[in-house]
Amino acid sequence: MASSEVSLLKAAAAAMIRLPAACRNGTCRACLCQAEGPVTYPAGVRPGLMPEERDAGWILPCVARAAGALTLQVPGATPREVRPPPDGLTGARR
Ligand code: FES
Repeated sequence: MASSEVSLLKAAAAAMIRLPAACRNGTCRACLCQAEGPVTYPAGVRPGLMPEERDAGWILPCVARAAGALTLQVPGATPREVRPPPDGLTGARR
């Protein structure tokens, strides 16, 4: 379950899901997707959505926060890969 303290984009990343995004501040609309459920936006953030888009369930997950149980429909979502470190890199200091 996503916290209302973090954006849905960050919550998805923490769940190893990559959502499309670019500006990450609610202006470019690269992350535009549909949601079923309530979302909020932080004070001072004016997401680039028309009122009729909001009414139709469109959100900007880079700035939107979950305000309850939520389902997102994001055709461009992909699982995040966890890559092993390149050979020879151990993280140990010499
Ligand atoms: S990434 Fe630009 S509006 Fe969300």
